[in-house]
Amino acid sequence: MRDLRDKYIALIADAPDEATLEDLRVQAVGKKGEVSLQMRALGKMTPEERQVAGPALNALKDEINSALSAKKAAMADAALDERLRTEWLDVTLPGRPRRAGTIHPISQVSEEVTAIFADMGFAVAEGPQIESDWYNFDALNIPSHHPARAEMDTFYTRRGADDDRPPHVLRTHTSPVQIRTMQAEGAPLRVIAPGRVYRADYDQTHTPMFHQVEGLAIDKDISMANLKWCLEEFVKAFFEVEDVELRFRASHFPFTEPSAEVDIRCSWEGGTLKIGEGDDWLEILGSGMVHPKVLEAGNINPDEWQGFAFGVGIDRIAMLKYGIPDLRAFFDSDLRWLRHYGFAGLDVPTLHGGLSR
Ligand code: PHE
Repeated sequence: MRDLRDKYIALIADAPDEATLEDLRVQAVGKKGEVSLQMRALGKMTPEERQVAGPALNALKDEINSALSAKKAAMADAALDERLRTEWLDVTLPGRPRRAGTIHPISQVSEEVTAIFADMGFAVAEGPQIESDWYNFDALNIPSHHPARAEMDTFYTRRGADDDRPPHVLRTHTSPVQIRTMQAEGAPLRVIAPGRVYRADYDQTHTPMFHQVEGLAIDKDISMANLKWCLEEFVKAFFEVEDVELRFRASHFPFTEPSAEVDIRCSWEGGTLKIGEGDDWLEILGSGMVHPKVLEAGNINPDEWQGFAFGVGIDRIAMLKYGIPDLRAFFDSDLRWLRHYGFAGLDVPTLHGGLSR
């Protein structure tokens, strides 16, 4: 019995695979296995012999069975280890983007703008695209008879026949987000609000839906100088140039006082646009010091707080930076255009990694 034990324990230890293990099980403790045959022989023994041999055979059977299952478990562990070793994958390796899809220039530019202002401490705010006329106009110091309402080519929604409340509008600018953020967060405040806006207009530089990014900074002693510095930093970072010349032109918006429009020096020579050189100017944003009435509409005390605001045309600066001549193409969903002007999905714009590698 000792020999039988040693034989099977050794064979089990050396078994190379599960099939061999199963053969060994059948040979040793299967119905016609060696141990079973010996158990059958118990009947022919004297009761005294049987009392010794019986428990010994049972113990042998148990020992072989547990050696079999221990070996089986060890094999499974080894198989798993091997799988883990061969299927190992370095998730920190940079991806290999296929040219299956690209990031739209508008998304890219929105991310770039967000990265730049985030670095200056601006958080991102949002508001609805279908807006009440109070947020889009009244709260921004544009009363109902004000000519600015007509100038903005507003899209109005329709109310029910016996509903005489003023209709909602598709927001004509991101400025209503100023009011919503002031109301929600109070002062001090530093946010940008990128998003879609709508105006009934269509030509090479206008589409009925386009994008703006609003900026709003409110604090105790904010001035036009802060505004100018922020915008200059922004434009330099965005166009990735050391020097850009900006022109602040006195202007008028009902919601800012004083107001300024900002142009950027450029040239159109040979039909291609160059930033920072030449004799042309291109308007890229409107800005100014937040009007006291606008602060009031946002529940902020104008005797205590002041701030600046600006609104940049995202599509405009995208056209400028990436040399895209026709705004309408942005929204045609032409795959050839998207592949040409699109950006690789994994190049997230950051200030340290480069905005538009
Ligand atoms: N809302 C203005 C526009 O759409 C831009 C602007 C925003 C001007 C904030 C001043 C301050 O033209």
